[in-house]
Amino acid sequence: MSKKYEDIEWDFLNNRYKYTHDIHKYPAKLVPGIVEKLLERYQTKGMDTLFEPYVGSGTTLIEANIKGLNCIGTDLNPLARKISKVKTTYINIQELTKKIEKFDHELIKVELNINNLIVEYPKVTNIKYWFKKRNIKQLVPIKEWIDKIQNQDIKDLFEIAFSETLREVSMTRNNEFKRYRIPKEDIEHYRKEAFFLMLGNLTQMRDKLEEYLKVSNKDSKINIYNFDTVQNIPEDILKENSVDIVITSPPYGDSQSTVAYGQFSRFANDWLGHENSEKIDAMLMGGKRKKEEVYFDFPLLDDSLYKIKEQDSKRVREVMSFYSDYQKSISNVAKVIKPGGIVAYVVGNRTIKGQLLKTDEVTKHFFEKNGFEHLETIIRNISRKRLPGKVAPTGKKGNKVKTMHKEYIVVMKKI
Ligand SMILES: C[S@@+](CC[C@H](N)C(=O)[O-])C[C@H]1O[C@@H](n2cnc3c(N)ncnc32)[C@H](O)[C@@H]1O
Repeated sequence: MSKKYEDIEWDFLNNRYKYTHDIHKYPAKLVPGIVEKLLERYQTKGMDTLFEPYVGSGTTLIEANIKGLNCIGTDLNPLARKISKVKTTYINIQELTKKIEKFDHELIKVELNINNLIVEYPKVTNIKYWFKKRNIKQLVPIKEWIDKIQNQDIKDLFEIAFSETLREVSMTRNNEFKRYRIPKEDIEHYRKEAFFLMLGNLTQMRDKLEEYLKVSNKDSKINIYNFDTVQNIPEDILKENSVDIVITSPPYGDSQSTVAYGQFSRFANDWLGHENSEKIDAMLMGGKRKKEEVYFDFPLLDDSLYKIKEQDSKRVREVMSFYSDYQKSISNVAKVIKPGGIVAYVVGNRTIKGQLLKTDEVTKHFFEKNGFEHLETIIRNISRKRLPGKVAPTGKKGNKVKTMHKEYIVVMKKI
């Protein structure tokens, strides 16, 4: 018997982010309580391996590790991979504390002499547009100091603290995933101190890591890769019928527009020299608009696509690209799940050109086509802070429509 129902027990509107969950911002993060509750409901004795096909900032990995599962994850965004690694890697806290003290001791001297300092600007796109001169002079020596750290795990943690600091000192508006600069009139008085923010971030991260390490499972392994499940899942990483459970939240299909993971990560990916910094949003699922039209033999989706096409023949091909990639990804993920294995996809339903796209039903349908049965779909209210509540559907200002205020947790079982 399959069922679809609302349940406020899954809302977690006052969720406190424990452990390392909130050491770094990331767009469209999963709520940790959802993963914890799903594992309480569906993890059975003998389950060994969890797969996370869209790792993001690693929420699932943390909760699954605490519950003793081995985790394999993938994400095409290098910043996401680094955040997730840092959140879940054992570091000797005493050694880390010493390194933070050394950073404090040595960098405060640089900070006190900042007015006389001359630095070479790094190759960061539009650096002067996004950062004040004084902040660049602070950030460059911090980055140089990090580059000399020998212990790779500690270095990665410093880089993630640096990434948060970059966003904090940059002239982007707060609480936006896309990069918008603060109004011109505010720039003169805009004052942020990179060194002190960095030190604060490091100390917080250390404390949160210490909290996580108390509950983490040292025997369970976490491996994070950068393969694209739309293309294939490498056999040397995951064999067919090898995964017990998947808990994930795929992109909503608007990486190029509303929830722009690449744009959000651009400062860090640029400053840290990560690969493909400027291309990420185009590489993600649905990021490339198809030349031809695609339909899915599924009236619930196809009818909406026809109606969108009547209004905008370009936009419809973007939407089609997303669902076409999504379908391929699901069929690859389906293959690696063991018979009896569980998948839980947390998805949102978008409205485009007045057409509601029921991604929860599409997810259910795509898995059914790959030999899965539907167990349940839980409908939850989503905190308004997490996603922009309204978007301009035409890309023009004004004329805004409601986007997702509900999320759907679609749970399926491989027959
Ligand atoms: C909704 S976010 C996941 C958020 C994550 N659950 C968390 O709590 O932070 C979706 C992620 O999918 C990644 N992504 C998009 N397309 C991908 C693809 N084809 N292969 C792997 N990762 C992809 C994006 O980079 C993004 O990090």
